[in-house]
Amino acid sequence: MTVTENPTPMGFGRMHRKEDARFVRGKGNYVDDIQLPGMLHGSFLRSPYAHAKIISIDTSAAEALPGVRAVITGAVLETLKLAWMPTLSYDTQAVLATDKVRFQNQEVAFVVADNHYIARDALELIEVEYEPLPVVADAKQALAPGAPVIRDDKEGKTDNHIFDWSAGDKEKTDAVFADSEVVVVEDVLYPRVHPSPLETCGAVADFDKVSGKLTIYSTTQAPHAHRTVYALVAGLPEHKIRVVSPDIGGGFGGKVGIYPGYVLAIVGSIVTGKPVKWMEDRNEHLTATAFARDYHMRGEIAATKDGRIRALRVNVLADHGAFNGTAQPTKFPAGFFHIFTGSYDLEAASCDVTGVYTNKAPGGVAYACSFRITEAVYLVERMIDVLAYELKMDPAELRMKNLLKPEQFPYTTPTGWEYDSGDYPKALRLAMDMVGYEKLRQEQAEKRERGEYMGIGLSFFTEGVGAGPRKHMDILGLGMADGAELRVHPTGKAVLRLSVQTQGQGHETTFAQIVAEELGISPDDIEVVHGDTDQTPFGLGTYGSRSTPVSGAATAIVARKVRDRARIVASAMLEVSPDDLDWEKGRFFVKGDPDQGKTIQEIAMAAHSSLELPEGVEGHLDATTVYNPPNLTYPFGAYICVVDVDPATGQVKVRRFIAVDDCGVRINPMIVEGQVHGGLADGIGMALMQLMAFDEDGNHLGASLMDYLLPTALECPSWELGETVTPSPHHPIGAKGVGESATVGSPAAVVNAVLDALKPFGVRHADMPLTPSNVWRAAQGRPIRT
Ligand code: CDP
Repeated sequence: MTVTENPTPMGFGRMHRKEDARFVRGKGNYVDDIQLPGMLHGSFLRSPYAHAKIISIDTSAAEALPGVRAVITGAVLETLKLAWMPTLSYDTQAVLATDKVRFQNQEVAFVVADNHYIARDALELIEVEYEPLPVVADAKQALAPGAPVIRDDKEGKTDNHIFDWSAGDKEKTDAVFADSEVVVVEDVLYPRVHPSPLETCGAVADFDKVSGKLTIYSTTQAPHAHRTVYALVAGLPEHKIRVVSPDIGGGFGGKVGIYPGYVLAIVGSIVTGKPVKWMEDRNEHLTATAFARDYHMRGEIAATKDGRIRALRVNVLADHGAFNGTAQPTKFPAGFFHIFTGSYDLEAASCDVTGVYTNKAPGGVAYACSFRITEAVYLVERMIDVLAYELKMDPAELRMKNLLKPEQFPYTTPTGWEYDSGDYPKALRLAMDMVGYEKLRQEQAEKRERGEYMGIGLSFFTEGVGAGPRKHMDILGLGMADGAELRVHPTGKAVLRLSVQTQGQGHETTFAQIVAEELGISPDDIEVVHGDTDQTPFGLGTYGSRSTPVSGAATAIVARKVRDRARIVASAMLEVSPDDLDWEKGRFFVKGDPDQGKTIQEIAMAAHSSLELPEGVEGHLDATTVYNPPNLTYPFGAYICVVDVDPATGQVKVRRFIAVDDCGVRINPMIVEGQVHGGLADGIGMALMQLMAFDEDGNHLGASLMDYLLPTALECPSWELGETVTPSPHHPIGAKGVGESATVGSPAAVVNAVLDALKPFGVRHADMPLTPSNVWRAAQGRPIRT
C-alpha cells in the first residue's frame, strides 16, 4: 500500500507510522548513537565459572595500561555500598561479584577507558583467582538435600528455595478431581528462552559534579521507575536525575529491570568525572541479561467422559537463576500465572508455584507477555490437547464445548480474575472457517493413509493486560497509574507527553491518533513526547501491553479535558451557553444551527487571545491527567497452525497460520497487524528452535545467534489474520492491548500442530523446542532433549 492510498485519518484507521520517516532513513537515535564530549567507555570482565569463590582479584596490570581511567571491582563498590542492588522482586543482586560468582558470565570487574578497544584489552590483564564450587544448573536438583547453597550471602540461608505461592481454591479443586470421570496428568516444560531484541542493552551516564545533575541515557522500558530506583538506591536526589530513553530497538520485557551495566556506567561517570558509555555485545546479552520462562509445570485436568472440563490443578517449579530478578507486580511472585484457567468455564482451579535459585543468569522477565501469562496459556492449551488425545475428541470440538459464552461476561475466574468482555465462540468459529477446518481434517486423514504427516494445531488464549489497578498491584511500592499531558498551541498544533516509552510499537502514531479521534486535530499536527523523565509525567512505563490500556486511556481522558475547556471558550466566542453547543469531530457548533460553529484551531487561538472568558476560566486549553485503571483489559484470540512434518528427518514446515485477534477497538489496524506478525514469528521461534541450554557445569550452550536461533521469513508462512471487535467496557475508547497477544497465543498452536502430526506415532506430548532432532526423537518414542 502506498502513502497516497493511505492518507492520514482524522482519528482511528490505517496510517503509516510517523516515526518510520526517521527509522527508514537511518536517522533513529539509539543509545549507542549517543556521543558526548570526552566520553569514556566501559566493559565488563565476566566469570568463566557458573559457581566459584573469588579468592583474589589483581587489577594492577590493567590499571597500568595507557588509556585506562578506572578499574572498578566489587571491593570498590562495597566502599560505596553499591556492591549489591535491589531487584524488582525484593531480592538483592550483585552489581559486581564480591564473595563468589553465581552464574557463568556474571560481572566481576568493570574497566573504564578512553575507548572500547582499550577497555576490552585491559580486561585480559585482570587476574582473578577462583576456587570452583559444585554447580546447580537444574531446577529439579536445586531443592535436593545437600545441593550446594547458591545464596549463602543471605544470612541463615541453607537451601535454594525462594518462595512458595499458591492461588485458587485447593480444597474445592481437590474435591472436583476426586469426583471426576477422567483425570489426565502431564509434565509440561516452558524452556528458558530470551527476548533477544535487535538492540542489546546499554547506557551512557553523565554526572555533572558542579550542578549535581546525573543524566542517564539508557535502554529502558520504564524511565520514571528507573529514576526513582536510582534515587532510592544511590541516595541521589530524584529531581537531579534525568533518565532518557531514546529510540529503543525492541524491549520485549528484557529492558524493564536495572542491569549492573547501567549502575557501573553511573559509578564510572562519578569516579572519572566524564560521561561513560556501556554497551553490551550479543554474547553478553544472551548470557547475562534477563532470560524468560524456565517453568517446569505439572498440569492435571479433570473432565467428564464426554469432554466437559471441570477443573485444573497445576504445580510449578520456577527456575529464577542466581538472583530473583523476575519482573512482576509485587504481590504476585509468579506474575499473572494464575490466569491459567484460560478461556474456559471451569468449576475449580488451583496452582502452587515454588521458586528456586540455580547457577544461571537471573531474570524471569515478562518476555512479550503480561507477567507469565505465556506460560499459563501454553500450559492450558497443551492440557486441552492432551485431554482431547485421551478422550479421542477433536481438539476444536473440545474447545468449543468449554469456551466461556458471551453472556458470562464480566466473568470471574476460579482464581480471581475478572474478564471484562468477549465472544470466544465467534472468534474460534471465524478461525475455523478461515482455515477450512473440516476440509483440512479430511485432507489429514487421506494423507495419513499415504504415510504423510500433516498437523493442525489450535490455541485459544485470553490475556490480561494493562497493569494495573493501584488497589491490586504495584512494583517496588510504586502504583501502576500513568500520567498524560496535552498542550494545544495557539495555532491548534498539539504536544502530547506520555509516561510510557515506545520500543518500536508505533506510539508516536497511535497516541496522536487517539488525540485526533477526540479533538479532530490531524495526527500529523500532534507531536508525541516520551522517554525523557524531564519532559514527561510520571508513570511506570511500557511492558505487558500496558501502553494502550493505561496511557491510551489517559490520552483519551486528557483530550476530553481539553475538549471540555474548548467548549467553554467556544461558548464565549459564539456567545451561547456551553450547554447549547454540540460537538462534531474538530468543531463545536450551536445546537440546531450547524453553520454557527468554531473549529478546534479557531478555539485554540481564541483561548490564547484577549477574548473575555467566564469567571474562573484561566484561558489556554492545556490539561493533565493521571489514569488509574479500574481493571485489566482482556484481549483474546483463536489461532490455528497447519504444519507438514517429515518424521524421518524431523523437519517441520509451517504451511499456514490463521490468527483471529480481538483487542477491542483498533486504533491503527495496520500497526495491530504488525504487532501480531511479530508475535507469531516469536511463537514459531519458541516452539521450533529456541532454548537457552546449559551443561551440568552451568556452561551456557547458546551464547550466540548461531546457537540461539531467531526465526526468519524462511520459517514463517504468509500470516492469515482475522479479527473480531469486542470493546472493553471500562476503557474510555474500548481498546484492549495487543502488543503481546500473538507471542502469548502462538507457541501452543505450533506445538499442538506438530504433535497432532505425530499422533499416529503415539506421541501425546513432547516439550519445546521441537527442533528436527527432537521431532525425530519424539516420533521414535525417545526422550527429547531440552
Ligand atoms: O504497551 P505496548 O505498546 O507494547 O502494547 P499495546 O498497548 O498493545 O500497543 C501496541 C501498539 O498497537 C501501539 O502502537 C498501540 O497503540 C497499537 N494498538 C492499537 O492500534 N489498537 C489497539 N486496540 C491496541 C493497540
